[in-house]
Amino acid sequence: MTTYPPISPKIPKMLHGADYNPEQWLEYPGVFEEDIRLMKLANCNVMSVGIFSWAMLEPEEGTFDFNWLDHVLDTFADNGLFAFLATPSGARPAWMSQKYPEVLRVEKNRVRNLHGVRHNHCYTSPVYREKIEMINTKLAERYGSHPAVIGWHISNEYGGDCHCPYCQDAFREWLQKKYSSLKELNQAWWTTFWSHTISDWSQVESPAPHGENFVHGMNLDWKRFVTDQTVDFLNHEVNALKKFSRDLPVTTNFMEAYEGLNYWKFKEAIDVVSWDAYPTWHHERDDSKLAAWFSLLHDVKRSIKGGKPFMLMESTPSATNWQDVSKLKKPGMHALSSIQAVAHGSDTVQYFQWRKSRGSSEKLHGAVVDHYGKENTRVFREVSELGSTLQKMDEVVGTSVQPEVAILFDWENRWAINDSQGPRNSGMHYEEQIRRHYKPFWDEGIPVDIIDMECDLSRYKMLVAPMLYMVRAGIGEKIEAFVQAGGILVTTYWSGIVNEHDLCFLGGFPGPLRKTLGIWSEEMDGLHDHEKNHINMKGDNSLQLEGIYEAHELCELIHLEGAEALAFYEDDFYKGRPALTENQFGDGTAYYAASRNQEPFYSDFLLSIVRKHGIKRTIETVLPYGVTAQKREDGQNEFIFLMNFTNESQTLQIEEETYMDLLDENPVPESIVLPSYGYKILKRAVR
Ligand code: GLA
Ligand code: ZN
Repeated sequence: MTTYPPISPKIPKMLHGADYNPEQWLEYPGVFEEDIRLMKLANCNVMSVGIFSWAMLEPEEGTFDFNWLDHVLDTFADNGLFAFLATPSGARPAWMSQKYPEVLRVEKNRVRNLHGVRHNHCYTSPVYREKIEMINTKLAERYGSHPAVIGWHISNEYGGDCHCPYCQDAFREWLQKKYSSLKELNQAWWTTFWSHTISDWSQVESPAPHGENFVHGMNLDWKRFVTDQTVDFLNHEVNALKKFSRDLPVTTNFMEAYEGLNYWKFKEAIDVVSWDAYPTWHHERDDSKLAAWFSLLHDVKRSIKGGKPFMLMESTPSATNWQDVSKLKKPGMHALSSIQAVAHGSDTVQYFQWRKSRGSSEKLHGAVVDHYGKENTRVFREVSELGSTLQKMDEVVGTSVQPEVAILFDWENRWAINDSQGPRNSGMHYEEQIRRHYKPFWDEGIPVDIIDMECDLSRYKMLVAPMLYMVRAGIGEKIEAFVQAGGILVTTYWSGIVNEHDLCFLGGFPGPLRKTLGIWSEEMDGLHDHEKNHINMKGDNSLQLEGIYEAHELCELIHLEGAEALAFYEDDFYKGRPALTENQFGDGTAYYAASRNQEPFYSDFLLSIVRKHGIKRTIETVLPYGVTAQKREDGQNEFIFLMNFTNESQTLQIEEETYMDLLDENPVPESIVLPSYGYKILKRAVR
């Protein structure tokens, strides 16, 4: 069992804090001193500083002012507070855009942006790279061994792409490295179609609304390039820091399931994964679907570095101001939502933001300290209480989650599915299908890793890979070996269609998965929103499922090639043909759902597989709807997080009195009451 060191050896505790912008308040005497008092009162121990501070750090080209930051960090150190120090590339000073327009991003319509907003630099521009290298070097030189600094927060929410001439050249170079010849590139992009053959590298242009955007292989390569170029920019930032600070961990904050960057490609470049989570609680009556989605997003972040604890870098202590309606978190939800992150492997709970700014676009975004400025607010009290709870969780720091199940949610596969035309341009809903396959595990309290197709499969008993449209080179063989060796595979319609270039497999779908699944998929029927079909379970099937389930949107017409049918279509001209199959392959089993089905299909289907194959739950008890369980462990102790996402109190029965309550250290009774939006953390020695 792997355990991990704390994010910083300077503070082996759960970290609690916020993005902090003292530079906005320099003209307001007393605010900084009051902030320090309030931070301690809120049981915070870490702040992220300097995120958008470039104009304050370098007010004129080559003139630097670190006095204010010296004062902030020295005062932190004197008061036992720590900091993640940001590099300022998320936004830049106006003088830079004015003097060097090349730092400004060019949009895909080839129009260069004016100076403004943030997150809009060109990541290839030599000037921007030179400027960030200079400021980062100075920051590292000055603060790399500062007692208050525990890590680097690189930039802020990298995202977007740039289509300037520098980026075009870099794209061409990237392609030349990838494809040894134009012939190879033309084949990979299938350019003989519509006479798109490229006869000189200089003819390559990034996708554009008024130019090329129909060559799927090229669209994919552009997205890959954007990720690689962003990682390259990040490495450039980090290299500057490492000159003076070898030991500080680096992170960059990711955004939920942001499609624009393949976060898996960042794993070598950063020491710890961090991300910004903004669930819109209470927008629906039933919060459990949203809770499951955010659990899934936490699982992605933990899985990127193979289970290593991550950081919840941002969340709101109350409401945001960018949603249609800014809803307050109901009492309890703040703690529950924060503990949810910890349950899934976060060693921090951090917020955007510490103090509400007085003006501009985020003045009404939730913060620990309101414009009112004092501690006697509901939000401040809840933050402070949570901080004191986190202080009792030292033992959990560095432990992780050990799932037997992995769900494959692959960024490149998503790009390819969403870009492809047909079989359902009105919505392929890949992400939604991932959610549907995840929710039953969440309901049942079964921990899950969310992986991409390059990940090692051998640590799992069960692999769920919905819509595995793209199967990159070597992946079919890897999945085959996984099943051969006893693994359980669940996959669906629209799998094994294309390779890594988005070129269709010849000779029968699902391409490299055909043998493992024991089927041949001949045709795919796209259904309109108003249409449905049904699948009827075969009597006495191996999963003991009964009755009829509704199918919609996508129905594949398959042939058995060794697999056994568990269900058949009910309607249309393919009535009676197999719709759900099971194939014994080597020591394992491979299931294939040929149609997209409505609930309760996924709960019934996946949980019957779980039961049949003895996949373990976090805790053996009935979990009422909306209540879930998650476990972190370190080989000696296990910590079970029971979380109630409903607005009613819920009661659970546990079998024996073997657990201790981690927070109050009392034995846990057989009957546990979880108040509305309440949670409990149980501890016991591993048996
Ligand atoms: C993002 C940014 C923050 C802030 C928040 C508001 O996550 O990183 O700077 O704008 O959104 O929710
Ligand atoms: Zn550019």
